[in-house]
Amino acid sequence: MELLILFLASSLLCDAYARPPSLSEPFTARNVAGRSGSAIVSDVPVVSEGGNITHAVVTTNWAGVVIETLPAGQNFQTVYAQFTVPTQSQTAKGAAGSASIWVGIDGATTGATILQTGVDISVSASGVASYSAWYEWFPNPSVVFDGMVVNAGDVVIASVVMINSTTGVAGVTNESRGNVSSIELSAPNAQDFAADGILVPFSNFTPVTFITGAFTNTGALVDPSATGTIFTIQQNGTVLTSVSVATPDTITVKHT
Ligand SMILES: *[C@@H]1O[C@H](CO)[C@@H](O)[C@H](O)[C@H]1NC(C)=O
Ligand SMILES: *[C@@H]1O[C@H](CO)[C@@H](O)[C@H](O)[C@H]1NC(C)=O
Ligand SMILES: *[C@@H]1O[C@H](CO)[C@@H](O)[C@H](O)[C@H]1NC(C)=O
Ligand SMILES: *[C@@H]1O[C@H](CO)[C@@H](O)[C@H](O)[C@H]1NC(C)=O
Ligand SMILES: *[C@@H]1O[C@H](CO)[C@@H](O)[C@H](O)[C@H]1NC(C)=O
Repeated sequence: MELLILFLASSLLCDAYARPPSLSEPFTARNVAGRSGSAIVSDVPVVSEGGNITHAVVTTNWAGVVIETLPAGQNFQTVYAQFTVPTQSQTAKGAAGSASIWVGIDGATTGATILQTGVDISVSASGVASYSAWYEWFPNPSVVFDGMVVNAGDVVIASVVMINSTTGVAGVTNESRGNVSSIELSAPNAQDFAADGILVPFSNFTPVTFITGAFTNTGALVDPSATGTIFTIQQNGTVLTSVSVATPDTITVKHT
């Protein structure tokens, strides 16, 4: 569990499976698309009022904060983020698009897996917005939480907990009503995934603010802004997101 992935808005992956990135590994073409992997383009400077982050990693499809380091001998156990489900709009008339708002923890012994959960947002070509809460222990496919209705304006908490190297829990809570959907999952076989995916167009959405944190197996709280790296999305030379850190636990992703 070296890599913790927090509070990311990403271009939604279209049924594709890709290795999650490691900041210390060179980017390869197989680190494609979607919430399961991000293609690192370059670094840019950022302003972070609440923390000490001075640069962002530019990717094709992830925006948010990634924490890679933690106190010696500890593992990430829990990550959570509270956010309000955004309102969506089309980037152009007739343009369908999607994004995903989620948290996740990279697997322990199986470094190519990600235990993750969140909310997918999509707008159709005719302008109809849809929302769904999902969970996934990547590379196993994502599954929609049965009966969990999510809409723009709902305050939700998404969280994952690693119980041990083979068992984890993913959950989404609707704070407004106290609805909770959670599930215990078994780690996938990391050998199973196939490469390559297709980026679906990134939809437009109102800014998403994450109130967030992570705990290690000793119960220590890790501040995203103190130790994390900001990720921001650039596609075809255009920067699509801006990420700001207001306080140590408050991160906002805006579609620019
Ligand atoms: C959410 O709570 C409402 C009652 O407030 C209930 O009718 C509904 O079935 C719950 N949904 C889930 C997914 O638990
Ligand atoms: C969550 O709460 C909001 C507002 O109270 C409601 O509109 C929505 O349907 C709820 N979602 C679930 C899953 O119950
Ligand atoms: C992991 O936790 C699950 C659920 O508590 C348990 O059934 C399983 O035996 C544990 N596995 C290991 C390797 O400790
Ligand atoms: C930023 O760095 C300074 C000096 O190293 C440190 O005192 C401060 O606690 C850091 N702030 C955060 C939010 O990590
Ligand atoms: C990037 O540009 C190419 C060529 O114009 C186009 O086919 C592709 O859809 C664009 N990709 C994105 C993510 O906008």
